[in-house]
Amino acid sequence: MQIGIGIIGVGTVGSGTVDILLEKKAYYQELYGLDFNITMVCARTDEELAPFRALGLTGSTQVQDIMTNPAISIVVELAGGYELPKSWIEQALTAGKHVVTANKALIAKYGAQLFPLAAKNKRHFLFEAAVGGGIPIIRSLQEALTGNSVNSIKCIINGTCNYILTEMSQKGSAFASVLAEAQSLGYAEADPTFDVDGIDSAHKLAILATLGSKQYVDFNKIHIEGIRRINETDIAFAREMGFVIKLLGVFSKVEGKTDARVHPALLPGDHLLASVNGVLNAVYLETDHLGPTLQTGAGAGKYPTASAVVADIVAIGRQGVKGGMSPIPMDFFSEGNPADLLPIEETSSAFYLRFTTRDETGVLASITKILSQQGISVESMIQKGHQKKDRVVIVMVTQVCKEGLMRQALEQINTLNFMVQPAAMIRFI
Ligand SMILES: NC(=O)c1ccc[n+]([C@@H]2O[C@H](COP(=O)([O-])OP(=O)(O)OC[C@H]3O[C@@H](n4cnc5c(N)ncnc54)[C@H](OP(=O)(O)O)[C@@H]3O)[C@@H](O)[C@H]2O)c1
Repeated sequence: MQIGIGIIGVGTVGSGTVDILLEKKAYYQELYGLDFNITMVCARTDEELAPFRALGLTGSTQVQDIMTNPAISIVVELAGGYELPKSWIEQALTAGKHVVTANKALIAKYGAQLFPLAAKNKRHFLFEAAVGGGIPIIRSLQEALTGNSVNSIKCIINGTCNYILTEMSQKGSAFASVLAEAQSLGYAEADPTFDVDGIDSAHKLAILATLGSKQYVDFNKIHIEGIRRINETDIAFAREMGFVIKLLGVFSKVEGKTDARVHPALLPGDHLLASVNGVLNAVYLETDHLGPTLQTGAGAGKYPTASAVVADIVAIGRQGVKGGMSPIPMDFFSEGNPADLLPIEETSSAFYLRFTTRDETGVLASITKILSQQGISVESMIQKGHQKKDRVVIVMVTQVCKEGLMRQALEQINTLNFMVQPAAMIRFI
C-alpha cells in the first residue's frame, strides 16, 4: 500500500526524516508491505527546496499545497513554533490526515486542544521525537508500560544543560565559559534562554508528567529553575559530599497531588542518572510492577530525532491509514482533566545552602538561629575561609523540610548585613 507523506519544514530534523525514509523505503516495503512515499516537502524558500527537488521530490513553499493534496495521508510538522503549526495540525486533523510532530513546545502549550481534536477525528497524532529525541520514552509510557502505574519520573531532558554541567564538573570551568564553548560547538543556541533557564526541560516534563499521571499537567504551572546560578563552588562542594549536580525534571504523586518541577538537583554519585553525561538525555522511571528503569541516549540531533519521527510514521502506516485503526488514547491530555499541582512551597527536600558572607563573628550563629526558628535542622556544615579577601563561604546541608519554611528562612537571612550575595539553594533528590 502506498502512503503519502507531506513534510513541513526540512531543516535539521526534516532533512534527516527525508534521508531515513528514502534509505529504508525498500526495507519497509519488504517488511511491512508499506510504500512510504514523500509526496511533498514544504520549506519557506525555493533555495531551501533545491536539494530536495534534486532528489526527485516535489517541493512547495505553500503549506496549503500539503493540506489540500488528497494523496497525503500523514502530515509531518517539523517547522517549529507555536501558532502556525497549531493551525496546520488542526487543519490536517480536521481534513482526516494523521499528524506526526517533534514540536515539544507546541505539545506542551496546545496539546490539550490538539489531542481531543485528534480523538474526535479518529486520527493519529504522534510525537515520539518531542521528548528525549530518539529515546523511545513516549511509546514506552503509552504502550509498553501499561501494566504499570508510574510512581515517579526523574529525567535529564536537555542536552545543552547536561553538557554544561558535565563540563563544569569535569573541568572545574565557570558557567559562562562553558556556555560560550557549547555555543561554538553547536550544542547551545545563540540565545540559550530556552535551554539554560529550564523552559525546554519543562515543556518535555509537562508531556512526560501528563503521560505518567494520565492527567493534564499544565506547563504554565510547573515550577522552573535553570542552571545559570550554579557555580564552580557548588559543583566542587557537591563532589566533596559524593554528589553531582544535574538539571532534572521531576514528577511524582504526593497525596493525590502532582509534584512536577524542573530545577538543578543534587544526586548521589551512585544514582543511575549521575553518570549520564555530556549531551546525553535519560529518563529514570519508578513503576509499581517493573520497578526502576532507565532509558538513555541522544536527546537531540538530526538522525536520532528523525529516527523517532520515522518510527511514528511507520507506526501509523502499520495501523492502516485508511481506517480500522485505533489511535493511542490520549483523551486524558485535555483541559477538562487537569492535574492538581503541588505548589513548590509544599514540596519537601533536604537542601544544600551556600552562604557567601563577610568574615565576621556571629555569622554562623545568626544563620542557624533563623533556620532553627523555622524548625529546620542542619545536618552538616562546611566552612571555607577567605576565597576572596574578607569573604567566607559556608555550606550547610539540612534535613528534609518543607520548601515554604526554607524560603521564609532564606528571605530573612538574605537581609542580614554580612551577606555578600543572596544565599544559594539546591535541592537533594
Ligand atoms: N534539532 C533537534 O535535535 C530537535 C530535537 C527534538 C525536537 N526538535 C523539534 O523539531 C522541530 C524542528 O527542529 P529543527 O532543529 O529541525 O529546526 P530547523 O533546523 O530550524 O528546521 C525547521 C525548518 O522549518 C522551516 N520553516 C519554519 N517555518 C516554516 C514555514 N512557515 N513554512 C515552511 N517552512 C518553515 C525553517 O525554515 P527557515 O530556516 O527559513 O526558518 C527550517 O528550515 C522543532 O519543533 C524542534 O523543537 C528538534
